[in-house]
Amino acid sequence: MSLEVVILAAGQGTRMRSELPKVLHPLAGRPMVLYAVETARLLSDTPPLLVVGRGADAVRQVVGEAAVYVEQAEQRGTGHAVLQARERLVGRSEQVVVMYADMPLLSAETLRALVDRQRTSGAAVVMLTLVSDDPRGFGRVVRDERGAVVRIVEEAAATEQERAIRELNAGVYCFDAAWLWQNVDRIPLTQPKGEYYLTDLIGMAVAQGRGVEVAPVADENEVLGINTRVHLAEAEAVLRGRINRQWMEAGVTMTDPATTYIEAEVRIGPDTVLEPGTILRGRTAIGQGCHIGPHTLIVDSTLGDHCRVTFSVVEGAVMEDRSNVGPFGHLRPGARLCVGAHMGNFGEVKNATLGPGAKMGHFSYLGDAEVGAGANIGAGTITCNFDGERKHRTEIGEGAFIGSDTMLVAPVRVGRGAKTGAGSVVTHDVPDGAVAYGVPARVVGETRKRGDAETGDRGEG
Ligand code: UD1
Ligand code: CA
Repeated sequence: MSLEVVILAAGQGTRMRSELPKVLHPLAGRPMVLYAVETARLLSDTPPLLVVGRGADAVRQVVGEAAVYVEQAEQRGTGHAVLQARERLVGRSEQVVVMYADMPLLSAETLRALVDRQRTSGAAVVMLTLVSDDPRGFGRVVRDERGAVVRIVEEAAATEQERAIRELNAGVYCFDAAWLWQNVDRIPLTQPKGEYYLTDLIGMAVAQGRGVEVAPVADENEVLGINTRVHLAEAEAVLRGRINRQWMEAGVTMTDPATTYIEAEVRIGPDTVLEPGTILRGRTAIGQGCHIGPHTLIVDSTLGDHCRVTFSVVEGAVMEDRSNVGPFGHLRPGARLCVGAHMGNFGEVKNATLGPGAKMGHFSYLGDAEVGAGANIGAGTITCNFDGERKHRTEIGEGAFIGSDTMLVAPVRVGRGAKTGAGSVVTHDVPDGAVAYGVPARVVGETRKRGDAETGDRGEG
């Protein structure tokens, strides 16, 4: 049976007290509206119709071609919002699902149950309900003495007796499309706010002798609607729990899931251990057997297998297999640690590559640089990459040994297997295999044999 999904996203969202349209507030790092859109896409082959109002352009920009759009210029209620979709959708499907963009935890399974129920019962409408002692301001399901649904009453209009009803309308429906499109413009206006309530369709269907069915939701969290930042944090907590569970089931160890924060688009390989205080954001991908944390932030970065990151910040970086960072390191955008490279205490690397097995143990800054395989960067080494106007590159050859506290004044190149003495200020290129020291550094000889430096680990510690 063909199905169209309408997602309501035009509301003001005033209670968020935000410049940003409510449905664009991030949840686990992704704009809230994307969750509803994706769930809708699991349900139907045609993209959902998003009813947009406040911040329409911004919403369009974020969702793009994953949805089609209709504008509700004035927000005159949920019934009015669905009416805006009629022209686009009438005659296009047998069923219509209506859901909200601010209910991001709703699952496709729950919606499928709703859709199946409508199909098998032929009801004019099936609505998702929940039974809860916390009425959350939801509309109440009013039933007659025989237990048949009569109508929905909004909290504001409810009598004291009706307010006590614990069966609540979640605001998610599957309609018989033909019936919906015939009736959606017959909803009466409700004062004092001058709105058209979609919920009035329930009473109308009953009055016409058409069936109305309910489908109870299994997990209350699914219908957590976000109206305030408190709700946003609640939804975030639920989602975080789901994400963490999913990764643990996929073979990731979390010492303390309660303090482990993983955004929706992150990927993690099995046998990776996440210690407390680990925060993984954006398009981060982590390989197998890594050890991350404690207290580490990784953003938009790619890590290979068996990497370690301890008490560090890694952003826009690549770490190849068996490389490690920390404690207290900072990899910034464009940093690349090749296989087995090590960046230790208080290091910073930006737009620079540390070659395979290269070591940078202590208090160093490498910016706009290329370090060859097996090179050793002594404690306190700095690439002076910025002359006040422009950035310049530094090149350090394979197996070079950079003495502690060397200043590399870029642009400059230190050759393969070359050495610099402690405290050198290198302003001119150092040839392959040469030894240079002093301020400014002068070439004073050759290393005993090339590659000698690879075994050296002096001058630091
Ligand atoms: C609605 C239901 C209520 C239900 C509750 C569950 C009505 C009249 N009431 O109340 O029974 O328990 O949802 O969450 O439907 N929107 C538009 N255009 C508008 C008005 C709203 O697009 O003109 C969108 C909002 O962006 C929001 C959704 O519809 O995503 C719900 O609107 P809201 O005003 O929050 O309805 P509730 O008062 O929560
Ligand atoms: Ca709401």
